[in-house]
Amino acid sequence: MMTAVEIPAGLKELLQGYTVEVLRRRPPDLVEFAVQHFTRILEGHRNDPKAKKRSAKPARKGVTFETKSDKPNKDEEEEEEEEEEEEEEEEEDTVKSTTSKYNRRVSVCAEAYNPDDDEDDDAEPRVVYPKTDEQRRRLQDACRHILLFKTLEQEQFSEVLDGMFEVLVKTQEHIIDQGDDGDNFYVIEKGVYDIFVEKDGVSVCVGKYDNKGSFGELALMYNTPRAATIVATQEGALWGLDRATFHRLIVRNNAKKRRMYEAFIECVPLLKSLEPSERMKIVDVLGARVFKDGERLITQGEEADCFYIVESGEVKIMIKSKTKAGQQDNTEVEVARCSRGQYFGELALVTNKPRAASVYAVGETKCLVIDIQAFERLLGPCMDIMKRNISQYEDQLVALFGSSVDLKH
Ligand code: CMP
Ligand code: CMP
Repeated sequence: MMTAVEIPAGLKELLQGYTVEVLRRRPPDLVEFAVQHFTRILEGHRNDPKAKKRSAKPARKGVTFETKSDKPNKDEEEEEEEEEEEEEEEEEDTVKSTTSKYNRRVSVCAEAYNPDDDEDDDAEPRVVYPKTDEQRRRLQDACRHILLFKTLEQEQFSEVLDGMFEVLVKTQEHIIDQGDDGDNFYVIEKGVYDIFVEKDGVSVCVGKYDNKGSFGELALMYNTPRAATIVATQEGALWGLDRATFHRLIVRNNAKKRRMYEAFIECVPLLKSLEPSERMKIVDVLGARVFKDGERLITQGEEADCFYIVESGEVKIMIKSKTKAGQQDNTEVEVARCSRGQYFGELALVTNKPRAASVYAVGETKCLVIDIQAFERLLGPCMDIMKRNISQYEDQLVALFGSSVDLKH
């Protein structure tokens, strides 16, 4: 017997809204995205629009700041509202040196991972932290190799630099605590920072940042709690970028990156065993670099900090040859080439040893670059394939140099 089932009012619209968002954004994790999507709707119902707008503003206490609005034609009501808010904020802001204490975000409203959603972001005032020439030079140096900035247009990159503020840290200071809400993204200017990840109540040091790199992007990108604890092991200096600016510039750029690299990344043989959502997480954190013909990407014997996939062009792998007595001489011998879809630079990251070979661009070559932290976090499932290939390198080297080689230990 059929029973009439009453469909609650609004259900259809809710589900349609979610479906449309999924099709538009193509999120890596449907369940996570659903939680974020519906939480956002709930927040919208709970908060009046003005309160909602205020809660999304970046925390700015303890730093000097200026705001620039991106929207020139606002109606009077909006302007009045903004003036009121600015007055409130001015009362809250204590103007200190830019190198003073940075802000902890106490609580965040749930923002969906919405790389395409620029409407809210556009309404945000642009935050500019004034800098001396010397500060700007140090900041530019620190940001030169930050992969997340490598796919930004020049204008967006300048906005990122404007929005960054200097943070001085003391020995043993916790910059980030696992489980907290995400407030800022950090670029390292100097200092060594241990990375701790807690599993089953045990905190394990899984790596460190040594005077370069960046951290704190995950909680801001995916609106998740902080995934690790970051502790300064010596005095250091960082550059922070607040959550709202990070969203407006980096997360929005990620939507573009996903469109650009999705098809290519799907075809990389090494990454076939990953889930589509895991592949998208790689796209979110990768940087793209173009190398000129003959340019050296990797130097044999140096410390390793990233992994490469060739997007276009070709690279040749060169190894310093050995004399009959097993001594290394400085003549380089070509051992392999990698072209579109192939990877290199994994060996030193897997074995924790110096680079085993040098790598040069053959013609103009574009590579996608992933840093060691993302490599370890995201490429674990591909480790078997990589280990099998390392055995092939050993065979190759035996064929070339005669004696047996152990690259893994
Ligand atoms: P987030 O989760 O925002 O805050 C902690 C940061 O530690 C995280 O972003 C990453 O940038 C960084 N990190 C480095 N290694 C790891 C790791 N193995 N797991 C999680 N986060 C890591
Ligand atoms: P890595 O040692 O990090 O940097 C140099 C890279 O060259 C190495 O990782 C491998 O990815 C790649 N490579 C290709 N063929 C060989 C080989 N026969 N021996 C060592 N490295 C090789």
